Amino acid sequence: MLACMTAGRTLAVAMQKGGVGKTTTTINLAYEFACAALSVLVVDLDQQAHATSGLGITVSGDDASMYEVLHVERSERVPLREVIKKTAFGFDIAPATLALRSLDAGLGPGGQARLARQLEQTDGYDVVLIDCPPALGELTITALAAADDVIAAVTPGDFELDAMRKLGNAVLDVQESLNQRVDIRHVLITRYDGRNMLDKNVRERIRADWPDEYLGEIRLRVRVGEAIARQIPVAMHDPAGDATTDYRRVAATIAERIRARV
Ligand SMILES: Nc1ncnc2c1ncn2[C@@H]1O[C@H](COP(=O)(O)OP(=O)(O)OP(=O)(O)O)[C@@H](O)[C@H]1O
Ligand SMILES: [Mg+2]
Repeated sequence: MLACMTAGRTLAVAMQKGGVGKTTTTINLAYEFACAALSVLVVDLDQQAHATSGLGITVSGDDASMYEVLHVERSERVPLREVIKKTAFGFDIAPATLALRSLDAGLGPGGQARLARQLEQTDGYDVVLIDCPPALGELTITALAAADDVIAAVTPGDFELDAMRKLGNAVLDVQESLNQRVDIRHVLITRYDGRNMLDKNVRERIRADWPDEYLGEIRLRVRVGEAIARQIPVAMHDPAGDATTDYRRVAATIAERIRARV
């Protein structure tokens, strides 16, 4: 069902709060799309490089990364296609390094459109998933400027509605300046514990506020952390598990929505 998705969608997995499952979502959706025979590129835009390391990718001293792709100095810049590496899971990654941290303060003139331009010149992928850092800094703005859709990752806790509002405002700013087509089209609750009253309440509020965008929940399961520790997608660690089922369903829903918009 996923395989008939039309080419060339860029999805930014974003939320300025830390630890809400952005990287886990990026890795596991990439895997599900790849299993459905789609060509997938993950762009790691976080200086923590958790998507990169979480997929068992190492960047040696000589290797260029997203830091060089977005470099402030034109002479130091490297095309996106030259930094892409193959993962062992049927999809590719443009890796991150700690050096990215210096760019969140400023990318220089035109810098926020740099990733969008590079992606235009790197065709051939059905889906590009951008793993954003936990801040609304330059790198997240760069991702929003390059994206068709935002997947907002929400973990039940304090202030998640406020966080959604702030992300929504950043998306509006980018719509007005850099990229008219971007919008929050998918909202996902991660680390969901259905026995917990707070989690249920958050789910009801998010569903009420985002009825069309709501993707459902990824259940809180220790298997997810175990898979991360093994540097493999949860579907390979726990093929029939709850989180695997959840990510598969979410990937199918996103594919359906994208198809419906063509
Ligand atoms: N469904 C889940 N069940 C259990 N643990 C989970 C689940 N999803 C994510 N986690 C765990 O939560 C932690 C944070 O997840 P993740 O790194 O994906 O968040 P993040 O939003 O990318 O964080 P950051 O903002 O720091 O980049 C990780 O330890 C991960 O293993
Ligand atoms: Mg992350």
